[in-house]
Amino acid sequence: MLPPDKLADVSESIFSVMSRLARDTGAVNLSQGFPDFSPPDFLTAGLEAALQEGHHQYAPMPGIPLLRQRIAEKVEALYGRAVDPEQEVVITPGATYGIYTAVQALLHPGEEIILFEPAYDSYAPSVRMAGGKPKFYRLRPPDYAIDWDDVDALIGPRTRGILINSPHNPTGTILTGADLRALEQLAHRHNLWVISDEVYEHIIFDGARHESVLRYPDLYRRSIAVFSFGKTYHNTGWKMGCIVAPPPIADRFRKVHQFLVFSVHTPSQYALAHALTFPEHYRQLPDFYQQKRDLFREGLAQTPFEVLPCRGTYFQCARFSRIRPDLSDQEFARWLTTEHGVAVIPVSSFYHDGHDEQVVRFCFAKNDATLQAAVDKLRRL
Ligand SMILES: Cc1ncc(COP(=O)(O)O)c(C=O)c1O
Repeated sequence: MLPPDKLADVSESIFSVMSRLARDTGAVNLSQGFPDFSPPDFLTAGLEAALQEGHHQYAPMPGIPLLRQRIAEKVEALYGRAVDPEQEVVITPGATYGIYTAVQALLHPGEEIILFEPAYDSYAPSVRMAGGKPKFYRLRPPDYAIDWDDVDALIGPRTRGILINSPHNPTGTILTGADLRALEQLAHRHNLWVISDEVYEHIIFDGARHESVLRYPDLYRRSIAVFSFGKTYHNTGWKMGCIVAPPPIADRFRKVHQFLVFSVHTPSQYALAHALTFPEHYRQLPDFYQQKRDLFREGLAQTPFEVLPCRGTYFQCARFSRIRPDLSDQEFARWLTTEHGVAVIPVSSFYHDGHDEQVVRFCFAKNDATLQAAVDKLRRL
């Protein structure tokens, strides 16, 4: 009776599976990627004020002017790019939506886009819903580095776009200036457009600088940068984000956006416009999360896990081959949750073909006490 399933191979997400297992077994949940602490007071105060002031009706289609203005000011201060808030900024209900909408706006049926794996789970389904075809480039531990000559070799006559993510979920790697310059040349040579998922722009460590596509003029001309407020303000449940793109690309984006959601939760937009007047919050975020990363890594170093590099995001990957070489990463994640009380995500879930390097991902966006409790359990391995 039903037509063929457009996403036939998609089943329940591993995040739901592991979180349920964590709940059922009382395990410390380091699987799903969200903080267990509250957003800053100025953000919730901003939301209360927006409600009191009566901002209850539809916002303008691309977002309230005040928020777009403040995003443009921030982007110029951080990345040196002057963007027109009227034409180049659109407020979205989260970054997942921003990526989906960008793909629908840019990719035609039968065309290809390069995706790097392991990858955030929404990328490939977004491409397939547009009738497009993902071309996968496999990144491998321990450093998950990109060889741009190999990327070049993947590009065929129907390849139109490339999707990058830095800092990278799940591996915690970052792209360097050399990577962005290589991408700029490659995109220019093959006339590709670029979607740049930069949701962890402020969660980057050891003094490294976030290499946004906005810093590179020729790259920005063909790019759409996707941001999320949820990662920056510890409010993932608000599902708020934005995109920044040059006028011809942002135009295309807005055309799809107006028929998908039209406009985004108004009070949250006022609250976020207020939050952007506290830049010290995001300026302190690298130190805030670096302290958690270091605490967690020091704990992991006292276990048999092989701890992989983590240069950004709030995720730490580790190889478990010295603990249970006999298990797949899916089996290991279940075993660790049920037998040792710590829930993690198997990284094979981020590869379309289930490629397994015996690596699991921990989320350290947690209170120090939660991290300590997890480390205490892992030390007994
Ligand atoms: C790489 C990456 N992109 C996008 C998102 C989604 O962000 P949002 O919650 O704003 O949709 C996430 C969230 O986990 C992510 O890790």
